[in-house]
Amino acid sequence: MSDEVKKGLLGIVVDETTISQVMPDINSLTYRGYAVQDLCEKCNFEEVAYLVLNGELPNKNQLKKFKNQIEKNRNISINLREIVKHMPKKSHPMDVARTIVSVLGLEDKETNDNSPKANMRKVIRIFAKTPTAIAAFFRARKSKKIIPPKKNLSFAENFFYMCFGKVPNKDIVKAFDVSLILYAEHSFNVSTFTARTITSSLSDIHGAITGAIASLKGPLHGGANEEVMHMMNKIKKPDNALKWINNALKKKEVVMGFGHRVYKKGDSRVPTMEKYFKKVSKINGDKKFIKIYDIVKSVMIERKNIHPNVDYPTGPTYHLMGFDTDFFTPIFVISRITGWSAHIIEQHAANKLIRPLSKYSGPDHRKVMLLNQR
Ligand code: SDX
Repeated sequence: MSDEVKKGLLGIVVDETTISQVMPDINSLTYRGYAVQDLCEKCNFEEVAYLVLNGELPNKNQLKKFKNQIEKNRNISINLREIVKHMPKKSHPMDVARTIVSVLGLEDKETNDNSPKANMRKVIRIFAKTPTAIAAFFRARKSKKIIPPKKNLSFAENFFYMCFGKVPNKDIVKAFDVSLILYAEHSFNVSTFTARTITSSLSDIHGAITGAIASLKGPLHGGANEEVMHMMNKIKKPDNALKWINNALKKKEVVMGFGHRVYKKGDSRVPTMEKYFKKVSKINGDKKFIKIYDIVKSVMIERKNIHPNVDYPTGPTYHLMGFDTDFFTPIFVISRITGWSAHIIEQHAANKLIRPLSKYSGPDHRKVMLLNQR
């Protein structure tokens, strides 16, 4: 048995999965065998959520039933609504999201039933209720009235409605829907692996998703889309961009929204998300962010050969849609609940406790001296 340390599990294959495949050499990402680019153009997020969770794209009846299940479960309890309303207004929305899923676990009657059927019922409840509770905090922290979910709206439309009280035009909704499809699943990323690790001790799905949210918050992972916006706001205007990015590279800073553990020639999701960022930018008459975006991207590629990842175009897109910057990663959460849940169910189906080894480099074995001898 080799005792060579592979820090960060770099390049280590720890298990098999049938959910998605990341192929960096051909710049491809597929969910259950379907290319994400194809899914973005031909499906809406609910169809893709069904695919990620069930392994097949739904037919009309299956989609109708799935949408009804989500719609029926969107409302949150009065108790959870009151908890959200009384959370400290300065709380980070990712900490609120983590707490929401924990409370849903306390309320769920099937929390300790890890059977496939019970888990799928719990997934529907978590998937349907988490956006409602996150939107409730979006309003409550501004001391605005909480808006309950509305019937006959899509997942994407309903999130806008619960946050802003209205649904934007169809192009904006489509761009948001595409971002949810692109964020849904990405193999053994750190938050998904966190969920699988928690599941491997046969703990419950609410706990596994709570842990995954804590992991996604980190700026090296999902939190990067928020950091991208902070970076753009620091740059302020396109004329500052070249100087800012060269200065950041000179100081060897990590530039958020760039680089990836697996993709080394560019994140396969970026071209699609970039296309919709540019559409939203045009609709908003934005001249600033799109120019900053292009300048920073060209310098990173030309000078460091480091390509943007999906968080780079998503950050400014969510800003132009009117979302507060610290709500960008919670939007990642409401989409990635699908991928996390599929992996949790897959881990249960063929479980082995995840317990790696470590290479000891501490003091040699020694005897304990009594207190009055130390
Ligand atoms: C996501 O895994 C997934 O699939 C995640 C995700 C998903 O869908 O779940 O795709 C979503 O998390 C995307 C990543 C979002 N994170 C960021 O944008 C944060 C900025 N990125 C970096 O922190 C970094 O690129 C990582 C953490 C994402 C990946 O880093 P690795 O694989 O651990 O590589 P590394 O940090 O060791 O970098 C290798 C070299 C280093 O230079 P040297 O020390 O060898 O000289 O590349 C440099 C790094 O300094 N580098 C960067 C950089 N990314 C890598 N330099 C400046 N800015 C960057 N963004």
